[in-house]
Amino acid sequence: MSLMTREDLLRELELLPIWQLREPAKAVATVANSAEVSDSKADMFAARSELIKQMDWQNLQQCVQSCQACGLVKARAQTVFGAGDPDADWLIVGEAPGAEEDHQGEPFVGQAGQLLDNMLAAIQLKRGQNVFIANVIKCRPPENRDPHGEEVLQCVPFLQQQVALIQPKLIIALGKFAAQSLLQSENTVDEHTWASLRGQLHDYHGVPVIVTYHPAYLLRNWADKAEAWEDLCFAKKTMQGL
Ligand code: URA
Repeated sequence: MSLMTREDLLRELELLPIWQLREPAKAVATVANSAEVSDSKADMFAARSELIKQMDWQNLQQCVQSCQACGLVKARAQTVFGAGDPDADWLIVGEAPGAEEDHQGEPFVGQAGQLLDNMLAAIQLKRGQNVFIANVIKCRPPENRDPHGEEVLQCVPFLQQQVALIQPKLIIALGKFAAQSLLQSENTVDEHTWASLRGQLHDYHGVPVIVTYHPAYLLRNWADKAEAWEDLCFAKKTMQGL
């Protein structure tokens, strides 16, 4: 067993130098001041997740910006934290930044983003106005490949904390990856069945979740646009009843 100081631990968890504990929350203090730290990765992920849960919006933004917790740091131009109103009722969750998002540091600014803006307009919503847009993964995977398991494990706590701080009334998960990442504890989502999650209200830590197609998918499969429209109407109606 190695002896670690709190500083060592935070550095190991990729949470230094930017993150400072503001209030001595008990759970954090227990982990961060612990003299003995298990070497197991699972414990590391859990400890990192606990620390991220204590962050305010500014700390979270800084932590994402300087994150080096996985290999995606090597190829990214910058992190993409998310954009919009941090007090929004609507939270839209996509997968990961693509080339244009990596370049601009904003989510959904490419072609799929234009379609997303049109989808939002169809239900009288506008980017930045009572809407926050985020991705599960904050850095661009090279060649836009699917994110790897470890990358997801390192990044998901950021989205969890964004949800906790924004406290949206409703989350819209765009596509299989976002649906799976948000709902994995309750649903088995495979390649063929994920779309069956559409048309139902799911739950993510007490926040209702509606699943629809990813705009990048819709750009290639226009026939499914009608179904996406149904999902958006369902979301609008759900929000009106909340
Ligand atoms: N696709 C996503 O899932 N997110 C983006 O930000 C851009 C494209």
